[in-house]
This record gives sequence, structure tokens and C-alpha cells, in this order.
Amino acid sequence: MTLKIQPSGQACGATVTGIDLSQTQDAATIATLRGWWLQHHVLAFPDQTLSDDDLERVTRCFGQFSVDPFIAPIPGREHVIAVERKADETGPIFAEAWHSDWSFLATPPDGTLLYSITIPKTGGDTLFANQQLAWSGLLADRQAHYRDVIAVHSARRAYSPEGFYGKDDAGRSMTIRPSVSAEAVQHHRLVRPHPETGRPALFGCAGYIVDLEGCARPASEELEELLNWQTQDRFVYRHRWEEGTLVMWDNRSVLHKATGGYDGHARLLHRTTIGAM
Ligand SMILES: [Fe+2]
Repeated sequence: MTLKIQPSGQACGATVTGIDLSQTQDAATIATLRGWWLQHHVLAFPDQTLSDDDLERVTRCFGQFSVDPFIAPIPGREHVIAVERKADETGPIFAEAWHSDWSFLATPPDGTLLYSITIPKTGGDTLFANQQLAWSGLLADRQAHYRDVIAVHSARRAYSPEGFYGKDDAGRSMTIRPSVSAEAVQHHRLVRPHPETGRPALFGCAGYIVDLEGCARPASEELEELLNWQTQDRFVYRHRWEEGTLVMWDNRSVLHKATGGYDGHARLLHRTTIGAM
């Protein structure tokens, strides 16, 4: 097998072939994959047959495990969660809003790995928006406008008892655990250099960002305008899933969101997160 990469031709994302991730990889191969990951932000590895042990081992090739607040792990695993929707589920799709995973933590996860087990024939694409391009595409005066802004992140709109996944979110198969701890806030700079490449990016978006410090206008107006900018089609890669694909993305440089369109069909993926370096 020859290790190959094929860029998506979109704003980010690439497909990697010629590798069997159920087997242990040498340091040189992991270094190559890490370089591609930093360049393309989202890597897809199709045609993989991975156990949860394999998924955990691959994750550890790229760092420590991060934590997953508000979602219980699958039985017998500490670091694997199930992103699941049963065929008869009718509630809102999980994570169908732009975000960077757990950006409300003091140390958000560097990356996320998602392995597809059951995938509907249509629908359920995942969208990724390249936030390095979103930053570099801003005119100088808009960069100056955002450069020193501090964003206030919180999980409260999603995971507090009164939140979107709180006490009124009935009938969901995922093991979401809302908590008053979701009320906590965390400050991050809106514009951050990538810790490995130095390339600046917009970090986070409306949803987990609940306030902005350093903007004259109301935060809600700023965040709506910013979100519209961040998620333009020209910054987006659409990932169409097939079963047995591992996708690994960089939360420091992309936003992502789930999409629906598969009512009546089951969907199951297993997920891990990579802690900060
Ligand atoms: Fe997510």
C-alpha cells in the first residue's frame, strides 16, 4: 500500500488512502499524517475497519485524550462517545449548528476523531468551515475590528438544564447529561494563532460564544454578522459519509456542523477528542 492524499478541492479537507489504521503506524507515518492534518484541517480515511480499541489507539497517536463534558461515554469506555440517532427519532438533529467542539472549556480539544459505523444512504453530511481562510479573507479594517476582541464562551445555551439539550429535550438516543455547570464561562481570544503552524484563525462562533468584550455594538449583532462571514460557502468543505470512514478534524482551525436529511434511518458514529498539546 502506498500512502496517498487527495485534497477535496474545497476550502479544506483531504482523503487519505493506502493506510490500514487497525494496524500500528510508525512515527514517520504519524508525522506525515500530522503534517497533512495541519495543512488540510480535515482528513478522511475511508475503508477502515476499526474497533474501539483501534479508535483509541489512533487518537493517542495525535495526543492525550480530552474530556467530554455533558455526554456520557459508551459502556466500558472512558473516552469514546456515540453520536447516534435511531431511525424513529424525531427531535432536532444533534449538533446542527456551527461550533468548535467544547470551545467553552479552559483548554478545548485540539481535534476530534469520528468513525462511521452506520450511515444512511443520503443525508447526514458534516460541514467544515476553514477559519484560517475566514480570517485571511477579511479586509484590513475588519481584521483590526476583531483582532483584540475577547470572546466569552459558555455551554449554557446547549447543556444547562434550561438549554437546547436540557430537561425538555426528550426522546434522544444520545446520552447527553445537562448540568448547571454549563453556566460557567471561559474567555478566549477571538483571533488566535494556531499553536503548531502560527497561522491565525477565528476561533469559535455564535452558539458557544455568548458575549464579546471589546466590540462597541451589541454582541448578538456582532456574532450574527461574524457567523454569516465565517460560514460562507467559499470557506466550507462538505463531507459525505460512507460506512467505515474515520474523519479527523482540527478544532483550532475549523468550525463544523451536522446536517439532517435522513429521517427514518439510523446513524451511528463513535467519537474521541484529542487534548491540547
Ligand atoms: Fe461537534
